[in-house]
Amino acid sequence: MKVSIIGTGYVGLVTGVGFAKHGHEVVCVDKDGYKVDMINQAEPPIYEKDLKKLLEKVVSDSKLSATMKTEEAIRDTEITFICVGTPSKEDGSVDTSAVEKVSEEVAGALKKKKEYHVVCVKSTVTPGTTDGKVLPTLEKSGKKVGEDFGLSMNPEFLREGVALDDFLNPDRIVIGGIDQRSQEFVREVYFPFKAPILLTDLRTAEMIKYASNALLATKISFANEVSRLCEKMGIDVYDVMDGVGMDHRINRDFLNAGCGFGGSCFPKDVRALRSLARKEGLKTKILDAVLEVNQEQPLLTVEYLRDELEDLQGKKVAVLGLTFKGGTDDVRMTRALPMVEGLKDEGAEVIVYDPMGMKNFSKLVDGIDYADGIEEALEGADACIIQNDWLEFKALKSEDLAGMRRKVIVDARRILDEEELSENVTYIGVGKG
Ligand code: UGA
Repeated sequence: MKVSIIGTGYVGLVTGVGFAKHGHEVVCVDKDGYKVDMINQAEPPIYEKDLKKLLEKVVSDSKLSATMKTEEAIRDTEITFICVGTPSKEDGSVDTSAVEKVSEEVAGALKKKKEYHVVCVKSTVTPGTTDGKVLPTLEKSGKKVGEDFGLSMNPEFLREGVALDDFLNPDRIVIGGIDQRSQEFVREVYFPFKAPILLTDLRTAEMIKYASNALLATKISFANEVSRLCEKMGIDVYDVMDGVGMDHRINRDFLNAGCGFGGSCFPKDVRALRSLARKEGLKTKILDAVLEVNQEQPLLTVEYLRDELEDLQGKKVAVLGLTFKGGTDDVRMTRALPMVEGLKDEGAEVIVYDPMGMKNFSKLVDGIDYADGIEEALEGADACIIQNDWLEFKALKSEDLAGMRRKVIVDARRILDEEELSENVTYIGVGKG
């Protein structure tokens, strides 16, 4: 099929490359000419594992190209996926202005189109947005939904860093449609995929996305809350969750205690669901608690250090890991920020290192030092906090800590093997007691 994709962020580009791999003819649209040029030269403007290799293949096979011309792209394709950002507003509600703006451009193109065309929203939008905002905008084209065009909502479940793999091997594909024809059209695009497909209405599809992210975030905050109790009682929360997760009704995923969840999705989506519920006059006791636990969790690592070093004033603390998880350069809502600010408030001298996140993190915070590598970060440090799970942090050994003044390690992601560390290292693993 001929597919156009508007927005070339990690969702749009991965979706485009994935569809192109399965033989569809894809055109990616972005208003940023630099990104468009890069994609046409088979250079991904974002980092995603394996993306470059597959992009090179689909571009050289002429299965994927990029353009700034929205109207032309829509005219020449049968279906358009809207994959633009939906950031949080101050009050936690979702800013859908980019989706609405793109819908207007799509409406302009639909006006001139004779053949049936399906518009599919992939951006994360709160229930009621696709039929309440996108549909009326598209109808301004004078075309009739159900006759001239179809409308669908197809949420994404892609984790940054492994987004391509998640796209190509999904657990399920959720397709909301305004009518059966729209649903079937989108199902057709997913024809080569093996995953179970759920056909539903637009609002249910929108809500599935929010409820999924909110439940995953709840699992993490739950594990973090239990981890605090485990610490007091000398129990390792990781052993507990291994046992809990063996129940197939629960499963082990997303029960890793640590310093909380960050990123562009969980914090934003939980807040959006909460704001939506409040607008409907409902209380959100669980979601409130999920966010509260998550806010406190990174500061616990500072508390452990205060307990261990007595006073953090003038102490040199290295923070390894600045991005919200390993494998990405994304620092949005990273737990490193409250952690670093907490350390600074206590008077610590902070030095940080991350393989990919230094540039982005330097825009968020002042008054800290940046090291070129782990060795430099640890040189003369009184303590170190491991904030994310990059492989090079997982590989840390006692000899790598040789330059530290005091060998105190707070493992906020539980990636080190304590048994492997020598006796002169004070290891504090979150949730380990
Ligand atoms: C998340 C979801 O996992 C995707 O399914 C969803 O499509 C995406 O949001 C989105 O809405 O677009 P992502 O934010 O990329 O993906 O990252 P995750 O791998 O889910 O991690 C989120 C945060 O939770 C990270 O800070 C991670 O360190 C933390 N986490 C994860 C834990 O603290 N404990 C865990 O057990 C798992």
